Formats: sequence, structure tokens, C-alpha cells
Amino acid sequence: MDRTLLITGGAGFIGSHVVRLFVKKYPHYRIINLDALTYAGNLENLRDAEHAPNYAFVRADIRDAAAMANVFAQHKPDGVIHLAAESHVDRSISDPMAFVETNVTGTVHLLNAAREAWKGVFDGKRFYHVSTDEVYGSLHDGGFFTESTPYDPQSPYSASKAASDHFVRAYGNTYKLPFVISNCSNNYGSHQFPEKLIPLMIHNLRTGKPLPVYGKGENVRDWLWVEDHSRAIDVIFHQGLNGETYNIGGHNEWKNIDLVQLLCAIMDRKLGRAPGESAKQITYVTDRAGHDLRYAIDASKIARELGWKPGITFEQGLEQTVDWYLANDPWLQAVTSGAYRDYYAAQYGDRG
Ligand code: NAD
Ligand code: DAU
Repeated sequence: MDRTLLITGGAGFIGSHVVRLFVKKYPHYRIINLDALTYAGNLENLRDAEHAPNYAFVRADIRDAAAMANVFAQHKPDGVIHLAAESHVDRSISDPMAFVETNVTGTVHLLNAAREAWKGVFDGKRFYHVSTDEVYGSLHDGGFFTESTPYDPQSPYSASKAASDHFVRAYGNTYKLPFVISNCSNNYGSHQFPEKLIPLMIHNLRTGKPLPVYGKGENVRDWLWVEDHSRAIDVIFHQGLNGETYNIGGHNEWKNIDLVQLLCAIMDRKLGRAPGESAKQITYVTDRAGHDLRYAIDASKIARELGWKPGITFEQGLEQTVDWYLANDPWLQAVTSGAYRDYYAAQYGDRG
């Protein structure tokens, strides 16, 4: 094997796409997927990759410093792609400490483990931290987030991600740890936990439940297909410059209510309902506290310097995404019923 990569959070939504891409594209790399299997981590997401000879799964928690040191001692990774995180804004509002512990403390444990294991010999080493556009705050007067937009996080989730970004840069500056960071906009695609807008709406449309639109539905998000994000991570990991930040986005802004209406129209067609039938499920609910108005990424740096751009249109991606959820009802049933967590509890004990 040419090299060993430690990918954290590989059982989650984006992580599972990244693991699958790397396992298939780089048969000469050893890919170690490190994941605690929280409610958001699901090994079902990797059924098609788990028997590959270059893949291994390690169940470990990034909040456990000794476990991180052990993983580095045992597997000797020369690269890290760090995705493990608590990722849902609404959960960060009800339980901010979980976000401090995993996103901030957990990231610092991982940085310490890399620093200790690599012992100042950084040739061929790389720590890639996967972050979010939410660290830049909320756009109110037009414009886009660039790599030099000042940090201005507004939710406990984005504050914890901003703090972790700062720690990564501080380790680069202080200990010369070679790092790269990317900040990406909202992802959509298969295997996303149905607490997030698009899979939640598809699931509720299917099951006839209300479609809860926060506030007036006027908040704007910039949507990117998860496989395009994974390709960007591949390009940045291999070609990005040390110490650099790359913004990743889809140039694809949608008001929430327009996106929900679009999903309703797609579901009318797919489920053979009369046009307008699904939209009757739309229900306006109390707004998210401190709800960021608009995110929009200027992705020109990664296009110019690394030649990356989104590969498919939103129409194509959304169509594929809806088809995947409709074809994978058992997956949705399992993650919403908690059946897979019962399985993990039986299989692994503890928190599952
Ligand atoms: P996710 O919630 O679907 O998956 C997170 C994964 O991390 C899960 O597999 C979970 O088990 C694991 N995990 C959580 N806590 C852990 C811990 N303490 N130790 C080890 N593993 C742990 O998240 P996602 O949407 O796939 O996001 C992945 C990363 O990308 C996150 O860092 C997130 O901030 C970032 N990001 C997400 C988006 C998006 O739209 N989803 C956009 C930009 C950036
Ligand atoms: O921008 C990148 C971020 O995108 C990632 O860093 C986060 O991990 C990811 O969760 C996502 O954050 P958002 O808060 O933008 O995503 P979410 O799917 O939770 O919500 C998208 C928009 O839809 C947001 O404006 C809130 C709104 N919404 C969400 C839910 C779950 C609703 O109106 N109703 C809902 O039920």
C-alpha cells in the first residue's frame, strides 16, 4: 500500500461518500474509517465498500484522547481527512456541550495524536479538516463568502466548527503541522440522516406528514451534490496547498420555500398525485432560534487553482436523490425507527 489515510466520520452522510470514493479510486491506499457510530453514523451506508481489501473500520470516539493516540500507533496514517462532527444546527441549540466536546475537544485530540505520531517529521503528511460555510455567519446584503471573509459564527454548531478551524490553523502556525481546510455549503444526496431539510421533506411527503417550514421559508441555502463535495475533497487532499483554505459551493441558491415547493412537484409526479396535492402538506412552524438568513459561496478559488467545479445540475441531483430515498425505504425506516441503533447496541455495547 502506498499510503494510509485515516478518514473520521466515515459512517456519516458525507464521510460515507468520501470513503466509498477513496476505497474505489485508490486501491493502493489503505483507508481506515474511524467513527463512533453516534445516531448519525450508520455502517449500512458503506455496505458496498466494506469488503474491499484496502478498507478497515475502527470504532472509536474522537473525544477519547488515548483512543486517538492508539489509532495512530496501530495504523500509522500519513494523512487524515477529518469529517467526524456533530453536524445538526437544531441539535446544537438544544445541546451545545455535545458540539463543544466533539467538534472542538475531539478535533484537538486528533490534532495532538497526529502531532505526536508524526513527531515533527511532516514530509508527505497532511491533516485535512472538513468545515462549513456557516463559520462565516449570515449574508444579509448580497455578496458571497470568500476564503477571506471574517469568521462570524451565529449558532452553537457554527461556533464549534469555527473554533475547530482556528485550532487547526493554530497547530499549523505553532507546530508546523501541515494542514488544509475546506468550507463547504449545504450538501444533499443519498444517505443523509432525515433530520436535515431535504431527506426530512422527502420522508414526510412520502408518509403524509406535515412539511415543517421554519419561519416564512425565506432563508437561502446554496446546495451542492454530496458526490461533487467528495470529488472536491479528493482534489484538495491531493493538490491543495499546505496552510490553504478552499471554499466549496454549488452556485445554486434556493429559498427554503421554493425548494420545498420543487420537492412537492417532483413527488406529485413520482407518486402519481394530482399537481399541487403534495404542497398541501406544507406547514409553517416557529422559526429556528438565531436562524441564519443566507449562505452563498464564492467557489472561484478552487475552480481557478484546482480545476474543480460541480459535475451535475441541481435538477439531475435532486431527481437522483428523490429516486434513491424512494428506492431505499428500508434504510429510511431503519434510521427513523432506531432499529440500526439497537443493532449497534447489541453488537458493540455502549452508546451505539
Ligand atoms: P453526519 O452527522 O451525517 O455524520 C457525522 C459522522 O461523525 C457520523 O458518522 C458520526 O457517527 C460521527 N461522529 C460524531 N461524533 C463523533 C465522535 N465523537 N467520534 C467519532 N465519530 C463521531 O455529518 P455530515 O453531514 O456527513 O458532515 C460531515 C462533516 O462535514 C462535518 O464535519 C460537517 O461539519 C461538515 N459539513 C457538512 C455539510 C452538510 O451539508 N452536511 C456541509 C459542510 C460541511
Ligand atoms: O451550510 C452548511 C451546513 O448545512 C452544514 O455545515 C450543516 O452540517 C448542515 O446541517 C447544513 O446546515 P443547515 O442548518 O443549513 O441545514 P438544515 O438541513 O438543518 O436546514 C436547511 C434550511 O432549512 C435551514 O434554513 C433551516 C430550514 N429547515 C430545516 C429543517 C430541518 C426548515 O425550514 N425545516 C426543517 O424541518
